[in-house]
Amino acid sequence: MKKQTFRFSNSSTDFYFDASFKQLKEIVSKEHSIIITDENIFELHAAKFKGWKTIVLKAGEEYKVQATVDAIILQLIELEADRKTTLIGVGGGVVTDITGYVASIYMRGVAFGFVPTTLLAMVDASIGGKNGIDVGVYKNMVGNIRQPSFLLYDVSLLKTLPDAEWSNGFAEVIKHACIKDAAMFKLLQQHTLASLQRSKKVLAPLIERNAKIKIKVVQNDEFEKGERKLLNFGHTLGHALENQYQLYHGQAVAIGMTYAAGISKQLLKFKQTDAVVKTLEQYGLPTYASFDKPKVFEVLKMDKKRERTGINYILLERIGKGVIKSIPLTELEDIINQF
Ligand SMILES: NC(=O)c1ccc[n+]([C@@H]2O[C@H](COP(=O)([O-])OP(=O)(O)OC[C@H]3O[C@@H](n4cnc5c(N)ncnc54)[C@H](O)[C@@H]3O)[C@@H](O)[C@H]2O)c1
Ligand SMILES: [Zn+2]
Repeated sequence: MKKQTFRFSNSSTDFYFDASFKQLKEIVSKEHSIIITDENIFELHAAKFKGWKTIVLKAGEEYKVQATVDAIILQLIELEADRKTTLIGVGGGVVTDITGYVASIYMRGVAFGFVPTTLLAMVDASIGGKNGIDVGVYKNMVGNIRQPSFLLYDVSLLKTLPDAEWSNGFAEVIKHACIKDAAMFKLLQQHTLASLQRSKKVLAPLIERNAKIKIKVVQNDEFEKGERKLLNFGHTLGHALENQYQLYHGQAVAIGMTYAAGISKQLLKFKQTDAVVKTLEQYGLPTYASFDKPKVFEVLKMDKKRERTGINYILLERIGKGVIKSIPLTELEDIINQF
């Protein structure tokens, strides 16, 4: 099993790309580990969990809350987890966020690793050390930054992933291409959702490439002072939409990226909006959508990236080159109203 180690400011993480779930026991001992997963994954991949101590959570974002953390901690005590125990989050971003958080606070911190099982977790959520939970309507309001010791990638886990979750993950893949990797954007244009689902030979290296884009951005700016903000491309408007409408995260971000491309056209003479839109559609994502602009703008104004009168917006100079720009709120409102 090939291991690639990446260094972050206070620790390092071993990445096992193109591995198999079976090999988990070569990384950690079954005896000193506890897996945390959700009910869907546990049922769909039951055989894999044989012989592993496992805590099974209810599936869904609504369970990424303190009550679940409390329940996990009680089970850890029951299972006699101690400082030598490693917690392993096997799941999508909900499971990995919560596992990383519990591992950071249980006995003032124990080791943890992840086996991401959604495309979104493989390319985004499980990387970068942001762990946390939601509080009421406030997403990721409580948490910390602490890196996992390892990540094991088994692409075959995606065989059971529903189509909507694939699209969700591709929103972040397209985001990475837009801000950092023009060649990957071309590759995405040449494929479709269906062709990539069928071809492990293309998919596995594509996932690794995306993971490495995120790893590099995080290495350069672990605590989000600058470059890491680029990962918010499509997310400023996306979060505001997600807050107001029942949308998947990936759908909201896709609409956000469409508008961000349009704003880039106005402010930076970005010329490739149509290519962005077409690629999003190719991967089953929405683009231009009508929404209650004044209402969404109210939420957008409260965004964390706001600074006094302007808001830090991620725009594109060209595909493959994202930039951070402070836009006065009134100007932003005018531009969005023109769509
Ligand atoms: N920490 C970060 O940097 C970061 C970044 C992006 C997103 N996130 C978080 O990630 C979460 C979203 O992640 P997600 O989309 O993976 O959500 P998720 O964990 O809720 O998974 C989506 C659904 O897919 C199911 N599932 C997972 N793996 C499966 C498989 N292999 N086969 C069949 N079904 C499977 C899950 O049970 C769930 O119903 C959000 O809470 C978000 O805040 C965190
Ligand atoms: Zn996202």
